[in-house]
Amino acid sequence: MSKERILITGGAGYLGNVMTRHFLDQGFQVGCLDNLLYRQDYSIFPLAANPDFEFIHGDVRDKALLERVIPRYDIIIPLAAIVGAPASKARPVDTETVNRDAIITLDQIRSANQRLLFPNTNSGYGTKSGQFECDENTPLEPISLYGTTKCEGEKTLRESSKGGVIFRLASVFGVSPRMRLDLSFHSMVVDALTKKAIVLSEGNFTRNYVYIGDVAQAFAFGIQNYDQMNGEAYNLGSDQANISKNDLAAKVAKHIPGTQLFQHEVERDEDKRNYLVSNDKLRKAGFEAKTSLETGIAEVTRGVSIMLKNNPHKNI
Ligand SMILES: NC(=O)c1ccc[n+]([C@@H]2O[C@H](COP(=O)([O-])OP(=O)(O)OC[C@H]3O[C@@H](n4cnc5c(N)ncnc54)[C@H](O)[C@@H]3O)[C@@H](O)[C@H]2O)c1
Repeated sequence: MSKERILITGGAGYLGNVMTRHFLDQGFQVGCLDNLLYRQDYSIFPLAANPDFEFIHGDVRDKALLERVIPRYDIIIPLAAIVGAPASKARPVDTETVNRDAIITLDQIRSANQRLLFPNTNSGYGTKSGQFECDENTPLEPISLYGTTKCEGEKTLRESSKGGVIFRLASVFGVSPRMRLDLSFHSMVVDALTKKAIVLSEGNFTRNYVYIGDVAQAFAFGIQNYDQMNGEAYNLGSDQANISKNDLAAKVAKHIPGTQLFQHEVERDEDKRNYLVSNDKLRKAGFEAKTSLETGIAEVTRGVSIMLKNNPHKNI
């Protein structure tokens, strides 16, 4: 039987690197379409040893390229994006054209029998209404350009007659060949290791987190159960990782002794994220993210420590 083919746009990114390896291990052929925005060729090039891996260097805004590439695949996972509120603020035009417009183009080109799984962020929950307990029926009210364009991407796909499975991701943690130290979980570990201090703004705000390996497994679950899940959006986070920034920082400090915690009196959380997210719908569908925060803190501490050893100026 021939292998199924998955196209992962943004496959050389933080999540993409882990997902690409996961699906190759599962016996899929994986095509990774990425413009290597962060010059992260080092992260993906060892995969050239695997004949089931193909790298397509290009831009998801290149319609002619999408028209050539997309028909060759059974499954599409569009990860390519300008990710996070600060990055989007710095690159507003790229954010609109990559996060929203390229998804509209992709939707026009794909066919109804190609399965599609899309990662949105859950960062739009409760931001304006102040609703604390959120499930998939809670309106998404994104504040940042990042959140707005990702939600526009989700809307395009949910209104499409071609279907798709949407995952609304919590904030991800865990190591990847393309490491993102800007993620809030990771920056706490970096600060604990380099400054022996974590400074929290609005530390009482509760967020939801999820381990990177659990995200890859959830997407694999979505492929296996596509017919049952098609057309729906699912929160993807860990229930035991609905936690305030203060409590997460305390766990990091427990793991890295000598770390002191401080509250920033002036700085405010740009995303206004303060919510308790229900992951019941995905659990009822049959998948649960189970990796603990403690496991993630230990893993990220080991990973960041290696990066620090290679950087005598600790300027990471
Ligand atoms: N990491 C998280 O916590 C998180 C949470 C919710 C949703 N997501 C979503 O998951 C996806 C991946 O996020 P990530 O954390 O891996 O970020 P990332 O920045 O590491 O990955 C994005 C990838 O897209 C590529 N890219 C950017 N612009 C491109 C373009 N024009 N053409 C082709 N490739 C392009 C980049 O080179 C990079 O490899 C994004 O869609 C993001 O919105 C991530």
